[in-house]
Amino acid sequence: MHYKPLYVTEDERIEQEYAAQQVLNHPDRPKTFHIVTYGCQMNAHDSEKLAGIFLQMGMTEAADRLEADLVLFNTCCVRDNAERRALGNVTWLKELRKDKPNLIIGVCGCMVQQPQMAERILRQYRFIDLAFGTHNLHRLPSLLLNLLEKKTRIVSVSDQDTTIAEGLPVKRLSQHHAYITIMYGCDNYCSYCIVPYVRGHERSRQMDDILREADVLLNSGVQEIMLLGQNVNSYGNGSENGDNFPLLLKKLDEMGIPRIRFMTSHPKDLSDELIDVMANGKHICNHLHLPVQSGNNEILRLMNRRYTREDYLRKVEKLRSAIPTIGLTTDLIVSFPGETEAQFEDTCSLVREVGYDAAFTFIYSPREGTQAARMDGRIPADESSRRIEKLIREVEASTARVHETMIGRDELVLIEGLSKRDPNKVSGKGTRNITVTLDGSAADIGRIIPVTITSAAVNTLRGERKER
Ligand code: SAH
Ligand code: SF4
Ligand code: F3S
Repeated sequence: MHYKPLYVTEDERIEQEYAAQQVLNHPDRPKTFHIVTYGCQMNAHDSEKLAGIFLQMGMTEAADRLEADLVLFNTCCVRDNAERRALGNVTWLKELRKDKPNLIIGVCGCMVQQPQMAERILRQYRFIDLAFGTHNLHRLPSLLLNLLEKKTRIVSVSDQDTTIAEGLPVKRLSQHHAYITIMYGCDNYCSYCIVPYVRGHERSRQMDDILREADVLLNSGVQEIMLLGQNVNSYGNGSENGDNFPLLLKKLDEMGIPRIRFMTSHPKDLSDELIDVMANGKHICNHLHLPVQSGNNEILRLMNRRYTREDYLRKVEKLRSAIPTIGLTTDLIVSFPGETEAQFEDTCSLVREVGYDAAFTFIYSPREGTQAARMDGRIPADESSRRIEKLIREVEASTARVHETMIGRDELVLIEGLSKRDPNKVSGKGTRNITVTLDGSAADIGRIIPVTITSAAVNTLRGERKER
């Protein structure tokens, strides 16, 4: 089943613009805002849009939550600790309001979009003034206006999950690196995952809208774009004009943006056509984040991932024969319900077999409403800690092996900032997405510099500028 996206209508857009204007002229409007972001790049980019909307309403960004008239938490709920951290911090703000009675406390994002969360906020978190989910982010102006005019709490969680809002203002965090969302939502329903429930059905933006956004970024001097989607490989699924991810990537590559990255790719949808476009692209980085989750076929089946260990390894082999220098990273979950020691060991052996540059490792966290939350065989916490520590050691060993092979190679490094440890050094990412530090100054920030890798540290590489 494919869900056709609905676009936010022109009437709705005008209503929001009008509301933004009214907030701007409102005598009680907050003057400053501060956004605290949790979760993935999708959320980071949503926060850039929220900041864009606040600026449109005449507010300015406060560097610190203590300085702000409005604090907004853009939350994540992918694991229990992400959710607890957000709620803990919001509760802390309640204290702050004792000295600052007019402080507006807002929450938005994935946690708020969960079923029953709106009721919980209304009942249990009475100090929250403004709450909205992922589906009505574009309605921030009218929600804030309502709050100012009615002086009552506004909790608004829409279940209209197939909309796409184009043309929202964006306040980008970086001058040289930019996110572009290409698709929203997810229809994969991996059995452990809450994302499809809080981000809605999969829907893709029109290719023309994406290309236009990329063109504006290119003209503003952006050096790197990152295409975002829960599963970018299914971009364009069900589209009438045959749009798909390899085609989009090819068109973006032809535009001449210096660097293109994308995430996340689901292994089941990684096609030969995509590998081909990556191999022949001039600007597509030689890195792929390809979450495997587990190295055991029975666990993969229970996770509803729809590939086997062998399928995955075959794709890795294809990638490496087409792009020999490609770096692979992944996500791994330990202690999925019922996972035996032998099944866990399969994940460790897969890490050794693939030889990842890096991996994010997680202990399974039951999420209410998902299929896996109803499965038997919870693994005790101390056993989970043992497993994750062992897996982290495997990943560290893999990273060290990869870093060793990088010594002596040439890399192009996009400088992101001054090194935190040494003000005479700068650091940035090579095309393979590994951090490289080298001698330099603030003048290098935002530039792509050719470097030879000279040595490897635990999580980073060191390099020297190549003479030109
Ligand atoms: N769309 C992406 C990532 C979504 S969430 C993908 O398909 O890969 C990011 C990562 O969080 C997942 O890859 C998974 O490793 C982890 N994750 C998701 N749900 C989890 C849960 N309930 N417990 C532990 N880790 C989880
Ligand atoms: Fe979650 Fe799976 Fe969708 Fe990724 S692909 S967001 S892990 S359901
Ligand atoms: Fe978290 Fe939502 Fe991203 S649940 S990981 S912020 S899509």
